[in-house]
Amino acid sequence: MADVLQRLARCPVVVAPMAGGPSTAGLVLAASAAGALGFLAAGYKTAAAMRAEMDAVRAGRDAPFGVNVFVPGPPTDRAALDGYLAELGPDAAALGVAPGQPEWSDDDWDAKLAALLARPPAVVSFTFGCPEPGIIAALQAAGSVVWATVTTPGEAAIAASRGADGLCVQGPEAGAHRGTFTADRHAGTPAVPLRRLLADVAAVTSLPLIAAGAVMSRQDVTSALAAGAVAVQCGTAFLRCPESGAHPLHKAALADTQFPGTAVTWAFTGRPARGLVNRFMLDHPDAPSGYPEVHFATRPLRAAAAAAGDTGGMNLWAGEGHRAATTRPAAEVVALLSGGDG
Ligand SMILES: Cc1cc2nc3c(=O)[nH]c(=O)nc-3n(C[C@H](O)[C@H](O)[C@H](O)COP(=O)(O)O)c2cc1C
Repeated sequence: MADVLQRLARCPVVVAPMAGGPSTAGLVLAASAAGALGFLAAGYKTAAAMRAEMDAVRAGRDAPFGVNVFVPGPPTDRAALDGYLAELGPDAAALGVAPGQPEWSDDDWDAKLAALLARPPAVVSFTFGCPEPGIIAALQAAGSVVWATVTTPGEAAIAASRGADGLCVQGPEAGAHRGTFTADRHAGTPAVPLRRLLADVAAVTSLPLIAAGAVMSRQDVTSALAAGAVAVQCGTAFLRCPESGAHPLHKAALADTQFPGTAVTWAFTGRPARGLVNRFMLDHPDAPSGYPEVHFATRPLRAAAAAAGDTGGMNLWAGEGHRAATTRPAAEVVALLSGGDG
């Protein structure tokens, strides 16, 4: 952990893992060259695809980087999803596709852990839960620092008790999925803003905290560090960078004033996630929790909407600070956030 903390002391910026396309080896390499810590996003990928990206980063630069993995949850009761699957029918018909099979998947969990243990990256972070102590200890013994994403003091206490080295503290302002340990929309404690959450988490653990959620400027970084974080993890600030693999329509939408702002929705994936408010989100306000089944059910609809140029039907993940996201190269965004010269 000492090496990673030293690096963060020099440049307290982590370029967030962003699954679904935005995180590329190029973004990780650009972040790293600028002094930040870049992350690959293993979510939705096979272990083989994750390994190939790790190889690409290693081939480009001998520098520390992180890999983020989704922790699988329990399967969802199919009966709880049937109403929503019927509700998706007209959307699918309008796009000329059928909803996908609402399957459960562990996202290639065992194979990913094996690949990470075989060639450990500097940091492995988890979201959607916290692995058992034995898994964390094995990754640490292999040479990785292990972080867990938490959204409440209760989750922080669990991750600390299981041996995590650091916590990515994600406020409700953050773009895309909340890293809550449960997908259940009726469970959990009410969300509190990032700065208060940092204080609440610091009250239950002395682990290093990495602050995530609408950190878009040097001032936001200073404020998160003053609230007790050792670093910030920024996603939305890098979404429009040339090195980001986000869909061009997504990049453009982030700056498009026709979108009234962001909200948290279950409609696309069955897990709470913050994105630009659009037609699909407004049409399905009561979508059930059920990840990853809902993700697979809506996937053909989202792909067809993107192919048709229909941003109303795409998941346009964005944090509350999205209007400040620029199209400048990642190195310049790192410099802007860290106050360095990039
Ligand atoms: C498009 C997008 C995809 C994301 N994917 C992941 C992911 O795969 N794993 C993860 O731990 N966090 C993911 N996040 C959340 C970030 O780690 C971080 O919490 C968030 O970006 C912070 O808020 P901000 O977007 O306002 O900077 C994603 C964020 C965005 C914007």
